[in-house]
Amino acid sequence: MSFSPSVQMASLFTYLLFLLAIFFISPGVSLTLKRGFYRKTCPSAEAIVMSTVKAALASDPGIPAALIRLHFHDCFVRGCDASILLDSTLSNRAEKESMGNKGVQGFQVIDEAKAKIEAQCPNTVSCSDILAFAARDSVTLAGGLHYGVPSGRRDGRVSFAAEVTQNLPDAFFNVTQLKQTFARKGLSMEEMVTLSGAHSIGDSHCSSFSKRLYSFDKTSAQDPSMDPSYARLLKGKCPRPLNTRSGPDPLVPFDPVTPNRLDNNYYKNLRSSKGLLASDQVLWNSTLTRKFVKENVNHPSAWAAKFAAAMVHMGSIDVVTGKQGEIRKNCRVVN
Ligand code: HEM
Ligand SMILES: *[C@@H]1O[C@H](CO)[C@@H](O)[C@H](O)[C@H]1NC(C)=O
Ligand SMILES: *[C@@H]1O[C@H](CO)[C@@H](O)[C@H](O)[C@H]1NC(C)=O
Repeated sequence: MSFSPSVQMASLFTYLLFLLAIFFISPGVSLTLKRGFYRKTCPSAEAIVMSTVKAALASDPGIPAALIRLHFHDCFVRGCDASILLDSTLSNRAEKESMGNKGVQGFQVIDEAKAKIEAQCPNTVSCSDILAFAARDSVTLAGGLHYGVPSGRRDGRVSFAAEVTQNLPDAFFNVTQLKQTFARKGLSMEEMVTLSGAHSIGDSHCSSFSKRLYSFDKTSAQDPSMDPSYARLLKGKCPRPLNTRSGPDPLVPFDPVTPNRLDNNYYKNLRSSKGLLASDQVLWNSTLTRKFVKENVNHPSAWAAKFAAAMVHMGSIDVVTGKQGEIRKNCRVVN
C-alpha cells in the first residue's frame, strides 16, 4: 500500500497532534517549568545555591531539614511562589507569622544565595526557584540523592498568615484528612506517604506532639499507638506542664538514631511504633497506608526514587510563570 504525499503529511500531522495531546494531559508534568531554565541567563545560579547551602550546613546540621520544610510550606500555600519568604508589613501579617509555620527557619540561607545571585545576574532568578533548588540540594546533601529540578517559577506579590492553616496538614490529622489535604494540591496518597519520609530529619517542638504523651483522648492519657519506652523517653525531654503560649518548648529530633540523615529509617520507626507526630504514626496504624510504609521499609532505593519524583511534583504546585508575578530583588519584600 502506498500513500500520496498529502496523505502522508496528514497522518504525520495527526501523529504529532497525538504526541502533543499525550504531553499535555500527562498528570504531574509541568508544562511551563523546565530544567536548566537559567542555563543562558544565569549559568551559575544552581551552583551558587548549592555552595551556599553547603556552607550553611557546615555550621548548622539542621539546615537541610529547614529548607525542605520551607519549600513544602511555600508550595502548599498559594503555590511555589516564595510567598512564605515575604516579611510582614505594617498593614499585613505574612504567612511566616502563622502558627501553622511554627518553627520554620532557614530564611537567611535563601537571602544569602539571592544576594550572591543578584550580584552576578540582577533581576533574573526568582526566589521561588532559589528555594526549590535549595530544597533539592538539601535532599542531595542529607540523603545522597541527585535529581534535576525544573525551574522558571516567578515570585508572587502577596502573603497572608490567614491562608496557612487551612492549606497545611495538621499534626493530629487522621489518614483521611491527610489524604484530602494532599489531594487538594494534586498529590496522591502514596506521594503523601513518600514525602512524609522528610520527617527522617529535623526536629519538632514538644508542643506539636505532647498531647500524645499527657492528654491523648478520653480513654487514654497516652497514645496507645506509641511504643511505651519511646513515650517514656519523650516525657523526659518534654516535661509537663507545657503549653504553646508560655513556658519552655524544647526541640526533639524526629529520628533519634540518624537525626540528620534523610533515609527510610523513618518508616522503620513507624513500624516499631516510634513515630513522633500522630500524623506520622497513623501512616502505619491505618490500613489505607500501611502497605506503602512496608514497601518503603523494604525497598529503600525505590523510596528514594519516589521521594525525588514527589519533590519535583510538589515543586510544580500552582506555579506562577511567564509574565505573571515578578522576580523579587529581595526575597523578603515585593519589588
Ligand atoms: C504529612 C503531613 C505533615 C505534617 C502533619 C507535618 C507536620 C510537621 C510538624 C508539626 C513539624 C514540627 C514543627 C515544630 O514543632 O517545630 C514538622 C517538621 C518538619 N517537616 Fe513536616 N509535616 C508533614 C509533611 C511534611 C512534608 C511533605 C515535608 C517535606 C517534604 C515535611 C518536612 C518537614 C521537615 C524537614 C521538618 C523538620 C524541620 C526542621 O527541623 O527545621 N513535612 N512537620
Ligand atoms: C478522620 O477525622 C474526621 C474529622 O474529625 C472524621 O470525620 C473521620 O471519621 C475520621 N476518619 C477516620 C478514618 O478516623
Ligand atoms: C498500632 O500498630 C501497632 C503495631 O502494629 C499495634 O500493636 C497497635 O495495637 C496499633 N495501635 C492502635 C491504637 O491502632
